[in-house]
Amino acid sequence: MIRSTSHLIAPHGGELVNLIADPECLRELKAHSCEWPSWELTGRQVCDLELLMCGGFSPLVGFMNRGDYEGVCDKMRLESGLLWPMPITLDVKEEFAQTLRLGSSKIALRDPEGVMLAVLHVEDVWQPDRASEAETVFGTTSAAHPGVDYLLNRTHPWYVGGRIEATQLPSHYDFRALRLTPAELRTEFARLGWRRVVAFQTRNPMHRAHVELTFRAAKQVEANLLIHPSVGMTKPGDVDYFTRVRCYQLLLSKFPQGTVKLSLLPLAMRMGGPREAIWHALIRKNHGATHFIVGRDHAGPGKDANGKPFYGPYEAQELFKKHEGDIGVTMVPFNMMVYLENQGYYVPDNEVPNGSKVLNISGTELRERLNEGRDIPGWFTYPEVVDELRRSFPPRHKQGVTIFFTGLSGSGKSTIANVLLTKFLEIGGRPVTILDGDLVRKHLSSELGFSKEHRDINIRRIGYVASEITKNGGIAICAPIAPYDAVRKHVRSMVEPVGGFILVHVATPVETCEQRDRKGLYAKARAGIIKEFTGISDPYEEPKDAEVVINTTDLTPEEAAQEILLHLEREGFVGVNGNHS
Ligand code: PPS
Repeated sequence: MIRSTSHLIAPHGGELVNLIADPECLRELKAHSCEWPSWELTGRQVCDLELLMCGGFSPLVGFMNRGDYEGVCDKMRLESGLLWPMPITLDVKEEFAQTLRLGSSKIALRDPEGVMLAVLHVEDVWQPDRASEAETVFGTTSAAHPGVDYLLNRTHPWYVGGRIEATQLPSHYDFRALRLTPAELRTEFARLGWRRVVAFQTRNPMHRAHVELTFRAAKQVEANLLIHPSVGMTKPGDVDYFTRVRCYQLLLSKFPQGTVKLSLLPLAMRMGGPREAIWHALIRKNHGATHFIVGRDHAGPGKDANGKPFYGPYEAQELFKKHEGDIGVTMVPFNMMVYLENQGYYVPDNEVPNGSKVLNISGTELRERLNEGRDIPGWFTYPEVVDELRRSFPPRHKQGVTIFFTGLSGSGKSTIANVLLTKFLEIGGRPVTILDGDLVRKHLSSELGFSKEHRDINIRRIGYVASEITKNGGIAICAPIAPYDAVRKHVRSMVEPVGGFILVHVATPVETCEQRDRKGLYAKARAGIIKEFTGISDPYEEPKDAEVVINTTDLTPEEAAQEILLHLEREGFVGVNGNHS
């Protein structure tokens, strides 16, 4: 039986948009698609497209044209006059934009695998002033703001606007039962008899404070609760959504039976603070929510280069209040929840009785406690959530790590790397792989020479393999010359998000290396038989960011390996097995 959902809150603009073409059109679109240029969508564009298709962004029926875009940037209004705070634009490369004709071109929008998800009817093509967009939408052009950084450094310089006809929703194979579209959620609310629904947006794991906050909010407005986490793109460095969703699932039993629903939103967040809070509420309205929780620092982008927050902690609530009528969703404002140690319960921080001792653990401190395997107290979160977090974020001595040696030929890299390898095998517990310069050149890079370009390719390959090993909890010991600073930094940036990265500079002077000349290469380089030889006829850029510097003129290989092990121990990367600390 299809239940009527007409008694639920109306979507923004009155009608729930559904851009999926009917089967007849679909056949036609597919048949003609080979005649149109294709655009391969970025991760963020796929997220935006999905919410356009299913009506999450109602009343939008495509990527914005210039009129809507300018109205949204300047006044938070679409050309129709309807409130909308965030530009939803399709950014493309200049060469691609130049091939399009207004009114007649169509573009096949494809996912990274080449599957056509939608057709865009080109109505507008223009080059936006992205700095001015950053200023009006985010109130800053500072790249320390993640939304601005994305806009200025990662979007393409041209925008294409136009109506969408969708051929299929992006495929998701994870948590399928939890991915409800606006229409599906509305049907579900009708089935459950829920008229008043308060939605909670989150991009973080939920702990006791969040459970307290959402429970209080639901009671306060006598509504059922929709936990509606964003699982598209969130702030760089956030906990991955797989872990978060497992945590949310564990928390459902903490709420009274039948009062709460969990659904995942494929939203690419912009971290736009006040404007984003309004946008979030409109999206939730489209999903059938009547109320929306706005907490402290909603969708906050963090701090600027001088350590000053981009927005005030309650600025989102203030802007929301101003537009509440137009939004059509009731705001449930909340202060930060803090724990009263002596009383043993949570209260909003503006209700703390005088003289009470307040406890709180920040996200950063939680990360540190997980890294170090330290206790996470029961007042802060639930034991099942801690277990889940520990599974995803084991203490450092169980995480993967890359030890990346750099230094001249003959400096002793390989010898020390091999001693270190045996030490790790002796310790046990983690698989170890050695990526020595000569071995890599034999197995991975046999076609490469020693030009800067080839050396950089070689190091990037090593970095890629090392980051995969590290991500999977192993130890990668790399020992190339790696003479260039920029590519070493690139490797660091590949590895650090997935585990530890320790740069070891084997700083044996070139004179010593040449004196040793174990392979006879220095003699050949001096004679001009080997060209581009590092330290003789090719540059070596000394690292300034090495965690460990070793000079083998004073140290034996065993002593050098000990220096590295001591550093790893200090940083927590080697510890006592089975012991958290
Ligand atoms: S790089 O720059 O990191 O890509 O170099 P790498 O892959 O570590 O390769 C270094 C080994 O190749 C031998 N070899 C040379 N090294 C430097 N410059 C030139 N022109 C050159 N030609 C051959 C040399 O044996 C290096 O090994 P190691 O173990 O460092 O002595």
